[in-house]
Amino acid sequence: MIQHPLLRRRFLAQSAAAVATTFAAPAILRASTLQQELRVAAIGVNGMGWSDLSSIGSHGKVKFVGFCDIDESRFDKADAAFPGVPHFADYRQLLTELSDKIDAVIVSTPDHMHAPIAMMAMKAGKHVYCQKPLTHTVWESRQMRLMAAKMNVTTQMGNQIHSAGEYRLGVRLIHDGAIGNVREVHSWVGVQGRQYCNRTDRPPAADIPAGVNWDLWLGAAAERPFAADMYHPFKWRDWQDFGSGALGDFGCHILDPVFGALGISAPVSIQAMNDGTTSEVWPGPETVAFEFPGTERTADSPIKVIWRDGGLMPPRELAQLPDGVDLPGAGSIFIGENGVMVLPHVGKPSLYPQSKFADFVMPVVAGTSHWHDWVDAAIAGKKTTDGFDYAGPLSETVQLGNIAARLPGQRLEWDTTTLKITNNDTANTLLTKNYRKGFEVEPV
Ligand SMILES: NC(=O)c1ccc[n+]([C@@H]2O[C@H](COP(=O)([O-])OP(=O)(O)OC[C@H]3O[C@@H](n4cnc5c(N)ncnc54)[C@H](O)[C@@H]3O)[C@@H](O)[C@H]2O)c1
Repeated sequence: MIQHPLLRRRFLAQSAAAVATTFAAPAILRASTLQQELRVAAIGVNGMGWSDLSSIGSHGKVKFVGFCDIDESRFDKADAAFPGVPHFADYRQLLTELSDKIDAVIVSTPDHMHAPIAMMAMKAGKHVYCQKPLTHTVWESRQMRLMAAKMNVTTQMGNQIHSAGEYRLGVRLIHDGAIGNVREVHSWVGVQGRQYCNRTDRPPAADIPAGVNWDLWLGAAAERPFAADMYHPFKWRDWQDFGSGALGDFGCHILDPVFGALGISAPVSIQAMNDGTTSEVWPGPETVAFEFPGTERTADSPIKVIWRDGGLMPPRELAQLPDGVDLPGAGSIFIGENGVMVLPHVGKPSLYPQSKFADFVMPVVAGTSHWHDWVDAAIAGKKTTDGFDYAGPLSETVQLGNIAARLPGQRLEWDTTTLKITNNDTANTLLTKNYRKGFEVEPV
């Protein structure tokens, strides 16, 4: 049937109003229209994207309606597991063309594209599962949190260990007061900010492999030539324009139970020490000291949380370990008023000194599937435990650490209410970034 243009305009206007109402309505109302099936589009379908879509796709109520990847060679696993799902190279085309067929979106691209994609999806009322770190900049994390709240969508950051029994047990022990209130936390990981490309300057240009859409891979980032074995896939992590260093790669995992256990959310100061950076790559081994306002779980205010990476470790004595026991390769030491908890990444927590906790009975805490929890919550119109209201501040903190990493030795003072570093103009310019035309992130 051909509609009169005027009628069609009225119909579109009414539809738009209906859509706006639907999006603004409580998630529980929208959930009733999901009819027990969540129609999901996956953006970035290999690497961690494969883990995400295979884990989410193993939920009986998930139906994939679109796969998007900028590299034609990387659909193979997704296609083998879920045949017949349409392919896209450009997420904007997917989200536009399939808009009325999609309930939810998985974002598993490199960090620099999380916010442009997830913000477009949420603005259209889609539930979002987005990889960690939630975003590439502090400002983007704030916008993601505000957009999720405004659109009342179900969100989850992809730091899946959040839902593992080991991390939940660690959080529970602090909540139960097993070591008393916490005085200080030391967290660390073995990897360092630049370790995959072994260079600090721009690599030589190379031919773009067939099937790779380099322009779409760059997305929001400034144009630069493709280089072989330097960016796509995986090695983009080293580069400031695309990745977020070791702190960005592991901070949202390892600092997550620190946030959960202590109930902290925004630091008041951040200071980094490292071997110096260029404007291209992240630093080598670094220490980043955060101070947070005290909470009911802390002994002091502010409380210090010290991050180390690249082989730097906290002093072993802090953990009061027995002879023959070493610190794990990655994790956190919580120093409490009545003892110490060592929480490995990923492993069961231990309490020290051993003599004091010889008779301690560890509670049993079960883990759940982080991916399925998101699906269930989206269908039920509920929140997750790792939604952007929680993951936003965690990622803001991580990316504040990365601003400090670019200004080593300078103590930055953060005002989370005004979203400003109050004592350093240069640092303030690093809260956000420039976007290439067509990939902008609009403020909420
Ligand atoms: N939660 C975890 O344990 C974990 C582990 C690894 C990576 N990650 C996160 O997952 C994300 C992806 O990391 P990775 O190691 O898989 O990277 P990767 O480069 O190996 O894979 C990214 C995938 O996305 C595709 N892609 C890139 N840009 C795209 C775009 N604009 N649109 C559509 N597809 C695009 C790539 O072709 C590739 O298939 C990152 O944010 C990373 O921090 C999380």
